[in-house]
Amino acid sequence: MAHAPLPLAPPRRFGETSRRDAWWVQSAVTFAILGAFVVYATWAAFQGAYYESGPYLSPFYSPLLFGDSTHAWFGPQPAWWPHALPFSAALLILWAPGGFRFTCYYYRGAYYKAFWADPVSCAVGEPGFRTTGRYRGERYFPLIVQNVHRYFLYIALGFLVVLAYDVVKATRFPDGFGIGVGTLVLAANVVLLGCYTLGCHSLRHVVGGYLDRLHGRPARKAAYDCVSCLNRVHMRFAWASLVSVAFADLYVRLCAMGIWHDARIF
Ligand code: FES
Repeated sequence: MAHAPLPLAPPRRFGETSRRDAWWVQSAVTFAILGAFVVYATWAAFQGAYYESGPYLSPFYSPLLFGDSTHAWFGPQPAWWPHALPFSAALLILWAPGGFRFTCYYYRGAYYKAFWADPVSCAVGEPGFRTTGRYRGERYFPLIVQNVHRYFLYIALGFLVVLAYDVVKATRFPDGFGIGVGTLVLAANVVLLGCYTLGCHSLRHVVGGYLDRLHGRPARKAAYDCVSCLNRVHMRFAWASLVSVAFADLYVRLCAMGIWHDARIF
C-alpha cells in the first residue's frame, strides 16, 4: 500500500532551534583554535626567520629548499628569485600540508559549521540560501574541488618521511649523537602527524575500501583494520597534531631567539 508523503516541516529561521544543549560551544571552540592556528601559521610563514636552532628545524619550514643553513637541500637562495618578493621557505611548502588539512573530511565538517554556519549545527535553522534550493553541496563546483583531498594525501605521506628525517637530524649535535627536549618535541609531532595522516578516510579507501570483500586478502584486511583503528579517533589526532605542529614551530622559534634554552637529555 502506498503511503502519502509526510508533510515537510516548515523551514526554520536562521539559528532557530528547539535544542536545549549548548550546541554552539563546539563550533565556537573550533573557530577559536583553528582561527588562531591559521593566524599563527600565516605569520610564521611570512616571517622567514628563527625557524632553525642547532639541529632543530621548524616543521613549517621543512623541507628547507634554499638557504645558508645546513638544513637547506639545494644551497643558497637562487639568484633568479625576484628580490621584490618576500622569500620564505614556508611559503613554498605550506600549501601542501595546509591543503591536506583544509580538505580533510573531518575539518570540512568542523569549519563549515564554525566559519560558514553552513550548516550551523544539527537541527538548527540554516542560512536563508539553504532553503531557496540554491544549495549545491559538495557534488558541484566549487565544493566538489574538496575531492582533491585524495591527492593531497600522497603529498602528506611524503611530508611524514621528511619530518621523520628531521627527527633523525635533530639527534646530530656538534659533539655527536644526543637527544634534547627539542628532539622529543619534533619526534612527538611526527608521531601525532603520523596518527592523523594514517587515519585518513582516503587512505582507508586506498588500502582496501574499494573492494567489496576483504575475505581472502589478509594483508589488505590488516592494513584496512589498522587505518580504521586510527580513523575512529581521527578527530582527536586532527586537533592534537594541529597543536603539536604549531608548538614544534614555537619551540624552535623561541630557542632560536634565545628566549627558551634547549635542555640536553643526553
Ligand atoms: Fe582527515 Fe583525510 S580525512 S586527513
